[in-house]
Amino acid sequence: MRAVNYRHAFHAGNFADIVKHAALTHLLADLVRRPGPASIVDTHAGAGLYDLQGAEAQKAREAEKGVLKLMGDPDLPPALAPLAQAVRAANDGGATRLYPGSPWLISRALRSGDRYTAWELRPDICADLRRVLGKQGRAVEGDGFAGAPRELAAKGPALALIDAPFEQGEDYPRTARAMQAILRRNPAATVMAWLPLKDLDTFDRFLGDLEDTPVLVAEARLRPLTDPMKMNGCALAIAGASDGLETQLEAICAWVLEAAGEAGARSRIWRP
Ligand SMILES: C[S@@+](CC[C@H](N)C(=O)[O-])C[C@H]1O[C@@H](n2cnc3c(N)ncnc32)[C@H](O)[C@@H]1O
Repeated sequence: MRAVNYRHAFHAGNFADIVKHAALTHLLADLVRRPGPASIVDTHAGAGLYDLQGAEAQKAREAEKGVLKLMGDPDLPPALAPLAQAVRAANDGGATRLYPGSPWLISRALRSGDRYTAWELRPDICADLRRVLGKQGRAVEGDGFAGAPRELAAKGPALALIDAPFEQGEDYPRTARAMQAILRRNPAATVMAWLPLKDLDTFDRFLGDLEDTPVLVAEARLRPLTDPMKMNGCALAIAGASDGLETQLEAICAWVLEAAGEAGARSRIWRP
């Protein structure tokens, strides 16, 4: 396994986090409505909580077109309200200084008896993750692509988040294979993968790799995908999405494009 340079702290609370985490709040609400215990795996967990005033977040100030707009919007659509509520809770109701990542959102949504395991490859980040989780989840230092399919309960309500850094092209096929392995282990699981949108060929190839796995896709394109060197948007591929999620995703993507989109921005919620 190659060393990871990626640090999510540079991007915390940006437009892509809003898409992913707003969708995650809906998946979690669905999960905890079902009789437990639930099993949750998070393949690429990161630190769990990010300081928006820290040097890394201040470098490109990506949160300004993301969570800071979200928390300042007096007309926030209901689809984004659960995320806004979580951000308020992470900040004890005060000014928005901290941004909650997937481990914080998941661990705080769980009922007693539900089981959450999060993987993080970098030892320094895994130590932060362990501190954020406390007793509300298990942090494992290692490769989440390999660990998550083995760890998820084979039966019962289950949720998997696959959120690779995509520093390496290999993360696309590995994400597709991990989705399939998780669904082989528990066909009733809901699995959400996050992907960057750079060019259409790469994304199409990813969807092709999924073969017969039916997914709901949400794309938020900030601009036309003409320069593949840029992150031009992001996408979610969700297997086992519940009824009603499409409507929530439409509202989430529309808000994000309003907040961060450029000329030619568009969103698309569809089933390949
Ligand atoms: C996009 S960030 C995760 C953000 C997090 N899921 C969230 O929503 O708050 C990706 C993280 O995965 C870690 N990582 C990279 N490759 C990994 C692997 N194979 N297994 C586990 N973690 C990995 C990186 O160190 C980084 O912290």
